[in-house]
Amino acid sequence: MRTATNNPFTPGFGDAAVWVPRTRQVAAVRAMVSRARTGARQAPRLIEQERGFGKTSLLAAVEDLASDWEDDAVVIRVTAVEGEPFMTALAHRLSQGLRQVEGTVGAALVQVSSWLGRVREIRLAGVLEVDVDETAEMPASLALGRALQELGAAARADGDRPVVLLIDEAQAIDAPSRRAVFTALQEVINTLDATGRVLPFAVVLAGLPGTRAAFKRHRVTFGERCRDLPLESLEDEAIRDTLLRFDTFNTEGVTFAGDGIEEMIEATGGHPHVFQLVGEGAWNHREDGQHITAEDVRAGVAQSQRELAMIAQARLNGLTESQLGWLRAMAGIAEGERTLTSICRAFRGRDSATASDCGSIADALLTKGVIRRADDGSGVVFALRSIEDHLRA
Ligand SMILES: Nc1ncnc2c1ncn2[C@@H]1O[C@H](COP(=O)(O)OP(=O)(O)OP(=O)(O)O)[C@@H](O)[C@H]1O
Ligand SMILES: [Mg+2]
Repeated sequence: MRTATNNPFTPGFGDAAVWVPRTRQVAAVRAMVSRARTGARQAPRLIEQERGFGKTSLLAAVEDLASDWEDDAVVIRVTAVEGEPFMTALAHRLSQGLRQVEGTVGAALVQVSSWLGRVREIRLAGVLEVDVDETAEMPASLALGRALQELGAAARADGDRPVVLLIDEAQAIDAPSRRAVFTALQEVINTLDATGRVLPFAVVLAGLPGTRAAFKRHRVTFGERCRDLPLESLEDEAIRDTLLRFDTFNTEGVTFAGDGIEEMIEATGGHPHVFQLVGEGAWNHREDGQHITAEDVRAGVAQSQRELAMIAQARLNGLTESQLGWLRAMAGIAEGERTLTSICRAFRGRDSATASDCGSIADALLTKGVIRRADDGSGVVFALRSIEDHLRA
């Protein structure tokens, strides 16, 4: 029986039970982790994406998976919180990480006694005794750098273990921490250990769009140089595969009917949060159905109208005037005739325009998940139906 209690969909949680694999991203991080072990120098990777695209879920998945790939990886996940000193949070997590490195630094302790740009005292018992003059202050970047180096070296000494550092909500890292953290990371990524290899770090950050631009604005050069890890809409094929084995994600043996799957793909437009929201509503639509049908999915959409409108609005916030104008031009063209050329012509108001005249606008809207390429390759579609409704309203 389908009830609200055994509903496997979890809108709003960064740890999805009904999980659509992120094959490309996971493979990229996995490769980083193996390279970390071999001691290859690698820049941190940055996921920059809008709310609800699944950044937190991806980091959580990496955290779970890392122990399958490299059963001994030391994983440290930390979330920046607006208004809180990030350095302090990171220092706590690092000391937890140190405790994972058994034998070597079982009794390790990173003590951050005060914040305001300074970490006063660091003691890694048994491994590192920083000679701290109680009255002197150690710059935060240096203290953090030392702690990271000790962690890296200890992990390597403890059977060549890689260290995976995952930082979420990177846009919320406070200004003093931002500089200290990247200075420390840069130093660590350029430090060779006793075996002549780079310390075994794989660093992944996730933040809202604009995170990199903020690093640049604040002259945090090493942050700006993070390599991009693109996180886009969920792929139709991946959604289909997941829903085909939906019975493995719920306790009631409920499956998705074929038309239910296709309706989910269409209704959710690859948007992870909408996927969870509509799925939840579809499950709740009936108690007795063993198969979730297209009708259930449509009911799920109807039930989520308000939230879907908010998601559409959020997707449109922050778009430029030209991007919005281009989208309105698109909405004015009949479905099925929305090619990049026809939209650009309508937007520019001249028949001689070609798709490449609007190339950067279309690219930005594809990346932001506002539009998607049509399955038959003929043109583009709105990623969410509610976006089109919103533009017409
Ligand atoms: N790969 C996925 N498969 C299925 N559901 C997912 C997937 N990724 C994320 N979700 C779901 O989408 C919703 C949003 O995910 P998540 O919180 O990870 O996004 P986010 O990008 O971190 O958003 P925010 O910027 O608001 O923190 C959650 O309900 C989550 O369960
Ligand atoms: Mg998140």
